[in-house]
Amino acid sequence: MSENTLRGKQIVLGVTGSIAAYKAVSLLRTLAQEGADVSVVMTSAATQFVTPLTFETLSGRPVRQGLFADAESMPHLQGTQEADLVLVAPATANCLTKCALGLADDLLSTLLLAARCPIVMAPAMDGEMWNHPALVAHVRTLRERGVVVLEPAEGPLASGLVGTGRLPAERTIVDAVYARLSHQPARAAACLGPGRQADRRDWVGQRVLVSAGPTREPIDAVRFITNASSGKMGYAVAAAAAERGAEVVLVSGPTALPSPPNVQTISALTAEDMYQALDARFAWATVLIMTAAVGDFRPRHPVPTKMKKHEWNGMPLDLERTPDILESLSRKRTHQVLVGFAAESEDLLANGRKKLHQKNLDVIVVNRITGDHSAFGSETNEAILLPRDGEPRHLDRLPKRVLADRLLDMVQDRCVPSHVPLAQPKSEGIRRIH
Ligand code: C5P
Repeated sequence: MSENTLRGKQIVLGVTGSIAAYKAVSLLRTLAQEGADVSVVMTSAATQFVTPLTFETLSGRPVRQGLFADAESMPHLQGTQEADLVLVAPATANCLTKCALGLADDLLSTLLLAARCPIVMAPAMDGEMWNHPALVAHVRTLRERGVVVLEPAEGPLASGLVGTGRLPAERTIVDAVYARLSHQPARAAACLGPGRQADRRDWVGQRVLVSAGPTREPIDAVRFITNASSGKMGYAVAAAAAERGAEVVLVSGPTALPSPPNVQTISALTAEDMYQALDARFAWATVLIMTAAVGDFRPRHPVPTKMKKHEWNGMPLDLERTPDILESLSRKRTHQVLVGFAAESEDLLANGRKKLHQKNLDVIVVNRITGDHSAFGSETNEAILLPRDGEPRHLDRLPKRVLADRLLDMVQDRCVPSHVPLAQPKSEGIRRIH
């Protein structure tokens, strides 16, 4: 990829002391190849892993390290005020914690406190550290403040263990930079279908949490209860919101679909997994769109091993309810706009209205799931958009991607301004209710 689509962007790349620091070298090269003007700031721990000379040679600029080492006055402000974005990759637990607390005891942390531009952080650490309640709280704080903290990847860790804590893939980091800068004409055009507009950036500043796909509730080690959801509707909503400039996190049950461009996709298997993943990010979001077909029941006592055929004969399946994610999150809502989907076979409007009120939603999308008009697995959908405070809108059969845009148009009218001050260009188009 050498489209120079980051041309003219000033990016400060912060490198902290993780074994993944060597990956920042390739990241720097990619950002530079895509046109960005990158200046590097290293913590002293980072210099234990990679020498500043490597970054200096590749960036063509001196690497800044110390608050007091440089001759320049106010080194923490140098370049920061002109920067379009600060990217910290890898970001250690220490760096995330200091940034959340507003501590400023070295050049990078001071610069992060002084920065008025968007910040993207790509964590890398041991899985136990990433999951520690202290760090979970700090990451939540950062996200509430508008900092993009990417999810670390899963896989073998430097500790020898396997878990979540690897630096996210380089493409994921670069895509997050694009998404935050909301300046990616070449990419946006590439993922547009025929006849769609390339220049709608009217969701800039919104943080959208989308759920998609089915869930799987284990019966034994190999068998499970699931449903026919393909995930296509949720992926279309996530793609549409990202193209229109929103930051998007997609929590997805098992599907065969690729992650949409510029969307951070997180996997969840069971309803409980999905609840945990969404709950952890709910405070960050300005909009929650629950398209997932969450399983309503799960076996009360899943068997950890594979049951033998003869054990099944006449065995009753003891089921219990799964958490109703949307209902639980709607009880915690503060500023968020909430959207649900209802798959119905009869009395579409009446059943939709009932769920809209029961789950305290702003909009519900009612789909028919029987006959020729079933939405499950199809590329198209015939739906009714039912707002809490307005008339239902009956839509003809439409491609899911087009339906997603119609839904965003309706939801947009109900969005409140983000409580986080936005450092990037404000959208002209988005209408907000004050
Ligand atoms: O009650 P019903 O399943 O029809 O409601 C559908 C809506 O509620 C969808 O938006 C779905 O994602 C959400 N839901 C949920 N948790 C469940 C079941 C459904 O969030 N356990």
